[in-house]
Amino acid sequence: MATLQAIKYSRGKLLVLDQLRLPHEHHYDEVTTSEEAFDYIRSMRVRGAPAIAIVAALAHAVELHNGSCTATSPEDTLAHIDGRLDYLKESRPTAVDLSNAVTLLKLAVRAAQIEGLAHPEAKEAIMSAYIEAAENILAKDLLNNQSIGSFGAAWLQQQYNASPDRKISVLTHCNTGSLATSGHGTALGIIRTLYAEGLLEHAYCTETRPYNQGSRLTSFELVFEGIPATLITDSMAGALFSLRRESMHIGAVIVGADRVVRNGDTANKIGTYQLAVLARYHGVKFVVAAPTTSIDLETETGAGIKIEERKAEELTQISGVLVNPDGSIDATRTARVAIADQNINVWNPAFDVTPHSLIDAIVTEKGTVVKGADGKFDFSKVMPERW
Ligand code: MRU
Repeated sequence: MATLQAIKYSRGKLLVLDQLRLPHEHHYDEVTTSEEAFDYIRSMRVRGAPAIAIVAALAHAVELHNGSCTATSPEDTLAHIDGRLDYLKESRPTAVDLSNAVTLLKLAVRAAQIEGLAHPEAKEAIMSAYIEAAENILAKDLLNNQSIGSFGAAWLQQQYNASPDRKISVLTHCNTGSLATSGHGTALGIIRTLYAEGLLEHAYCTETRPYNQGSRLTSFELVFEGIPATLITDSMAGALFSLRRESMHIGAVIVGADRVVRNGDTANKIGTYQLAVLARYHGVKFVVAAPTTSIDLETETGAGIKIEERKAEELTQISGVLVNPDGSIDATRTARVAIADQNINVWNPAFDVTPHSLIDAIVTEKGTVVKGADGKFDFSKVMPERW
């Protein structure tokens, strides 16, 4: 079966799917420099915490492979790589995957420098170490997501005693699928695995205003894979929870994460927190799917997370393609449309923080973490203290 791929990479060449053109057009751009990657990430043509980190890491790998580094000494090569990584890290501030990737890549090149210092080819050794470490981030992400899918589905199966005769329905927010990662996805990965195991009754996805990652991307992924699914606006979630009709009963909310901090507080797409409050009120499990690359043990609580604020136009304007009078879509005719008074003041935080008290489980690739008797998450079994 064909799979969706946000990132296509072979050594020296990086192609990234432009997610602003989805679902109507499948267009890949070649990203050849750090500057192009920075713009691609900032403008959200690629988005999702793991995908951002992968594109940034690989864009610099491509640059190095294609001879962009003019340094000659090992020290200057390291300084060059550090400079590019520090620049890329600023593209979007909330998701920690990118800064964890930067730390990991800096460590990898330093290890190569120590080994290769006395060697005449030390610069080459450092660049090769960088490229291999960046490629490894891509390869590992896919394995992580498959593992998250299995752990998350197993945990939910156990909680609800689910079986092919007793399936569960879930609600998800934003886009955490193949498009937000190297493949399979995190929260959407759990939904995929539930479906593959015959345990999924139905998936609901929120529109995810203001940038519509749910309606543009998640609904596209769900339709693409034939997973039974329904799109709702963010404001319909409360009504969906309260209906409790057998056919529409939500068993769990499953979301992704941009940054999970030491106490389990989790930054994710704006609108996540209100879903967690609703889930708790209605006695529905609230599950965060987060690879360990999305965990930040250096920040103690959610109060320490920097929340990105984005421009007003993302609320007051919308992009789309034209719908013909007969209802067919003309994907070649795009339009940007004003949907609010253009002079209104706007507050547009891209993320919110869900307190750990509202989270039932955090599913990582190493296992599912639940709170202990003290009400605290302990990540020591799934995470090293430092990268
Ligand atoms: O602003 P976005 O689209 O990058 O936000 C994405 C999310 O909030 C996702 O839930 C998160 O990055 C996890 S993606 C596996």
